[in-house]
Amino acid sequence: MNYPFVRHRRLRQSAAIRGMVRETVLTVDDFIQPIFVTYGSGVKNEIPSMPGVFHFSLDTLEEEVKEIVDLGIPAVLLFGIPETKDAVGTSAFVDNGIVQEATRVIKKRYPDLLVVADTCLCEFTDHGHCGMVHTYERDGHVCGDVLNDESLELLVKTAVSQAKAGADIIAPSNMMDGFVQAIRTGLDEAGFTHVPIMSYSVKYASAFYGPFREAADSAPQFGDRKSYQMDPANAREALREAESDVLEGADMLMVKPALAFMDVLRMLRDQFDLPLVAYNVSGEYSMVKAAAQKGWIDERAIVTETLLGMKRAGADIIITYFAKDMARWLREKR
Ligand code: PBG
Repeated sequence: MNYPFVRHRRLRQSAAIRGMVRETVLTVDDFIQPIFVTYGSGVKNEIPSMPGVFHFSLDTLEEEVKEIVDLGIPAVLLFGIPETKDAVGTSAFVDNGIVQEATRVIKKRYPDLLVVADTCLCEFTDHGHCGMVHTYERDGHVCGDVLNDESLELLVKTAVSQAKAGADIIAPSNMMDGFVQAIRTGLDEAGFTHVPIMSYSVKYASAFYGPFREAADSAPQFGDRKSYQMDPANAREALREAESDVLEGADMLMVKPALAFMDVLRMLRDQFDLPLVAYNVSGEYSMVKAAAQKGWIDERAIVTETLLGMKRAGADIIITYFAKDMARWLREKR
């Protein structure tokens, strides 16, 4: 067949034309940088499976945050590693919890930097599950069921204490049913009607969280998270999860992980008009870092293409451990 008038290459012939017709761009405003905060002092420990990502104590945090602010990144997402853990995750919701303290430190020094607080219990419970569990023994093994409604109460307490400490956005990642409504009501009753909820609406039970669980010391001590996180085989279920979050009052929706779930990002973008967040998770980061360290790939080109793909699939915001790197690369222009 002959299409005499089709000349796609007309619009590719120079960098200037390519720039003008480009459909998707990355800007530093798209990014949220996750930070791991831990107890103690003088701590700046690199996480072995996540080169370039560190645990910071409250006193070393400031230097890291300054770098983030200087790069123009608008937001950070806080994860806490507490000194003590128990069955109900008390350290998640006490007023002087690690995330609450880190929030105060950051907001005092950098009031304009947005602090997003991850609202979950798995870093704070001794069993590593995202909610309260009922445990029992079967054939000599410890088993457990996560108690949905009992957990909601603790998650509400956690969110309210985070908002009290100054968190700008609450990001519940626990995947209990009804968590958005419970947290919205709790925040409103405590006077935080203005604090938005960025819901981890669509969160899959994924092997891509492996390095994070090492970083956050939050691997489940028995069982897995398949009774509350989603089956990677399902896409329609993502629409049901997202719809209930919309009805319950979520302000932003998230898909996590991002890379293996680009179709889900696109589905949510087409179905809902709330801002959409993609979480470029720890395993996605570690794979790229490892291959780059071996000299097997061009890290900058790979990361740019990947994050661009997430935006093209419909994400407005990207949570990524590459935020600082990407902010630097965007300044350099290549
Ligand atoms: C807590 C939580 C997890 C991540 C973010 N919040 C881990 C999990 O569900 O096991 C993973 C983030 C990452 O892998 O970068 N529920």
